[in-house]
Parts: sequence; C-alpha cells; structure tokens
Amino acid sequence: MKGFPRGWFIVAWSRELEESGVRPLKYFGTDLVLFRTEDGPAVLDAFCPHLGAHLGIGGCVEDGAIRCPFHAWRFDRQGKCVDIPYASKIPKRATLRSWPVVERNGAIFVWHCPQGSEPAWEIPIIQEYDTAEWTPWRDNCLEGVRTHPREIVENVADKAHFPVVHRTRVHRFENHYQDHKATQVTHGTATPPQGGVDEFQIEATYYGPAFQVSHMDGVLKSILLLAHTPIDEQSLDLRFAVSLERSGPRTEQFAEFYAENLRLGFHEDIQIWEHKVYRERPRICDGDGPIGRLRTWYRQFYAQDG
Ligand code: FES
Ligand SMILES: [Fe+2]
Repeated sequence: MKGFPRGWFIVAWSRELEESGVRPLKYFGTDLVLFRTEDGPAVLDAFCPHLGAHLGIGGCVEDGAIRCPFHAWRFDRQGKCVDIPYASKIPKRATLRSWPVVERNGAIFVWHCPQGSEPAWEIPIIQEYDTAEWTPWRDNCLEGVRTHPREIVENVADKAHFPVVHRTRVHRFENHYQDHKATQVTHGTATPPQGGVDEFQIEATYYGPAFQVSHMDGVLKSILLLAHTPIDEQSLDLRFAVSLERSGPRTEQFAEFYAENLRLGFHEDIQIWEHKVYRERPRICDGDGPIGRLRTWYRQFYAQDG
C-alpha cells in the first residue's frame, strides 16, 4: 500500500492554535503551515513560491493572511498572494496549495487526497463535546510512532489480540462496514493494570481511514477520539482525547486515571506495531475477527479514481 489514504486527518487540537497562531506541520511527507485567522484555521503548503522560505517558521498572521518571514509577501487562506509590499504587480503564479480544513469537536482536520478530490464525507459532530455534562477533552499526542496506519486500523477486526495484549476478555464482538464507516462493537471485561475488574461495552466507529469515535459504557460513560496522521511512509502521530460523563466530584480524578490507562493501552499496541511486519496473506483461523473484510474496507481509501 503505497502513499497515503484519502480522508480527513487531525493535524492539531484546537487549543494548540491560538488566535493569529502559526505552526509548522509535517504530514503526508509534506511541509505545511497551519495558521488561524478570524475565519478559523487554514493549511497551506509551507514553502513560499517566491524564494522558498518556510511560512511556518517566523511567518505571522496579518489582515487575515499569512506573511512570509523572508520578504513579507502575504498569502490568503486560499493560498493566493494578496500583497507584496515592494511590488506594483503580483505575479499570477504566486500561489500555494491550500488544503480543505474543518475545525470540529475541538480538533483541526485536513482533507488529504492524492488525486486532489474534494471532501467526500462529513466529519460527524460529537453531540456531547463541550457540554456541561461532559468533562473537557483530555488530549494526548504520541509523536512519531514508527508504524503504518493500516496496523492501527486493523484493531477494528482483531478480536484475538484483546486478551493477550490488553488483558481483556471479549464476550461479544461485531464489525459493521458501511461506505466510509467501520464500526466495532465489543462487550467485555477488562482488568486494568492498577487493579480491579471492569465490565464495559464499546461502540467504536472509524469515519474514513484516520479517525475513530468510541462511545464506551463501563464504570462511567466516556467518549474517546482516536486519530492517526502519517508524517511519512514510516511514521505517524497518534492522537487521542477522552471525555467522561460527569457523575459526582470524583469524575475529574477518574478522568485522569482513565486517560493514563488509555495511554498505557496504546503503548501495549505500539510495542507490537513498531516491530511487526505486515502480512499480505496472513494465515487466519476461525477464532479471528473479520480481518479480510476490514482490509477490503480500508483499501477503498487508496483507490486510484479517488
Ligand atoms: S521567500 Fe517568501 S517572500 Fe520571499
Ligand atoms: Fe489494541
């Protein structure tokens, strides 16, 4: 599977980009600049069409556009040069590629498509996000995990790894695939590393190849946002954020504990992911989940006719 899949990808948490903020990014093997104007976040290719300065390193937001740190050319959110302080005419080709961006659920998403297609589906709104009944996201980013996104996505169908890697007994396990969505339903019993026994039910849905929203019901109700964005062909940033339904004064403390448990859980997977090989033709047995079906679903995001 060469290249990067088509879909929406989280490139930052909203809280990381203040008003008029500018950040360099590197995703999809490409240098990018993320900035925020009054109209929201925008993402452009990073290197100035003039003499090639990186707009994310020393660039600043001015009048709804980003100003290059080298000779002060300014580019609007669509990547069009709108001002050169020392020229009377702006060259026609003075443009940068702009990426479709949506800010939703406390995260900034870009649409990536190798064929340049427009966004093909909506990012769902998480109704509970930013309401009084739910705690604010506790977010995390595990940077530069050395794996391919397909390994992470394969968790959806990989029923048999739960007891081994996560010490979780699975009582019910289902997958549902529809268009760009892949849903995993799991009922089980977890034994967290800090002790105790936890009955849980999870419904986790991938919306495209790169982010998943899970609704979990256990000791408390929680929502998990999981996202992975490729930096290059070898590595990715793994982000997750968790919110808990408020139920008494200990919710915050529990949220902390819970986020830490999740982080430990991801590290268990990461240790496997970073050292494994990808089997094109794995020897599957009857107790495995629907790995073949998952792979067929995932391949749609690499379709050439994108
Ligand atoms: S390199 Fe950007 S304005 Fe000259
Ligand atoms: Fe896992």
